[in-house]
Amino acid sequence: MRSAAFARKRRGMTDSSNFDIIVLGAGAAGMMCAARAGQRGARVLLVDHNERPGRKILISGGGRCNFTNLHTAPDRFISANPHFAKSALSRYTPQDFLALVDRYGIAWHEKTLGQLFCDGSAVQIVDMLMAECDAGCVTRAFGRSVESVRHEGGQFALTVGGRRASAAKLVIASGGLSIPKLGATGLAYELARQFMLKVVEPRPALVPLTLGGDEVLFRDLSGVSSEVVAAAGKARFREAALFTHRGLSGPAILQASSYWRNGEAVTVDFLPDDDHELFVAEKRARPKVHFATALRGMLPERLAGTLASRLALEGELANLPDKRLRGAAQRLKHWAFTPNGSEGFAKAEVTVGGIATAGLSSKTMEAKTVPGLYAIGEAVDVTGWLGGYNFQWAWASGVAAGEAA
Ligand code: FDA
Repeated sequence: MRSAAFARKRRGMTDSSNFDIIVLGAGAAGMMCAARAGQRGARVLLVDHNERPGRKILISGGGRCNFTNLHTAPDRFISANPHFAKSALSRYTPQDFLALVDRYGIAWHEKTLGQLFCDGSAVQIVDMLMAECDAGCVTRAFGRSVESVRHEGGQFALTVGGRRASAAKLVIASGGLSIPKLGATGLAYELARQFMLKVVEPRPALVPLTLGGDEVLFRDLSGVSSEVVAAAGKARFREAALFTHRGLSGPAILQASSYWRNGEAVTVDFLPDDDHELFVAEKRARPKVHFATALRGMLPERLAGTLASRLALEGELANLPDKRLRGAAQRLKHWAFTPNGSEGFAKAEVTVGGIATAGLSSKTMEAKTVPGLYAIGEAVDVTGWLGGYNFQWAWASGVAAGEAA
């Protein structure tokens, strides 16, 4: 490996090229990794079949890129091994990424819940990462497909867009399966299997859920949103839920979807600030008020109407027994939807599951059984909550591999 001080120019890929490191995927993790490794002096080839790098960054955060979260902590990530992400996340923090953003003079703001966004455009983040790659003299091979990968004599030999390239180190940074139209493929899992690494079943996550059967009527509420606590398994999220023409969405539901399994219920608390005595207290205060009217004072009008008719409580509160009112509050605080599916990888913001962490070093992201092979970012079985956590994992794992490879 040459010294970083060695004057180099960014090289184009020739018919056959030898590098120190080949990074597969010019997304968030791959660009960060390539830049770090290049600036350390490694000769790096960064490959992507898209002509343009970082397509997910460009559309993220409504075009403003929610690039990190100040509350990043290992418990905000889903993985078969909840401890795996700790090392990389502690060595490259949101403040480290913020320092980089500040160095490039990119203006940003905190929106809510520690989520940091660009004031301007997500293009600034991609430009910054490409400038960092240029500072490391990283060679780009964009708009080129990976045709084959072989490992022989300690070298990874690849055919990329009809040309050969080799390196002693190969970094899998090709992401998960979410949003194929932006370039997502199963390359990471194919390579994992080729190199005998286990893969935790990939599932769509941060994804809208669909309703069918009797619950199909809730689709009539399309466009209605309300603050709720949505729960799947042991995970609970207090944010907005949104009814859609296919079922349920909004941040609370997207978060819960990452923990949801087919056939299970998602429980929604429509009255997160109230207890089971709510309607009994209302009855004492306003006995002449009808149940549906009382509910309309607490929830969006159309939602209140649908829920009231499902609860089949009619008439003035004064005429409804306390037991039934407590029962209604209980149902509204534990409303169980049983989604018949999700909107799938076409709409999922991320993929939960991926290359099993048991086969990787948490310090370097290197495969324990294949020296020189690394996996980073969403390709790995580490998935963050909504709100900038997934990019923070991409940066942190990218830096870990970029410094070690
Ligand atoms: P990423 O998917 O970014 O990059 C993988 C790269 O590999 C791609 O460039 C792809 O083209 C390339 N590739 C795949 N297969 C290939 C093949 N066979 N050959 C060559 N190249 C191949 N997160 C967050 O923290 N804040 C946010 O605001 C958002 N917002 C958001 C919005 C939307 C609509 C989506 C879909 C996702 C988000 N995310 C997010 C999630 C975030 O975008 C995601 O977790 C990271 O981009 C993952 O980074 P990676 O580099 O691991 O994969």
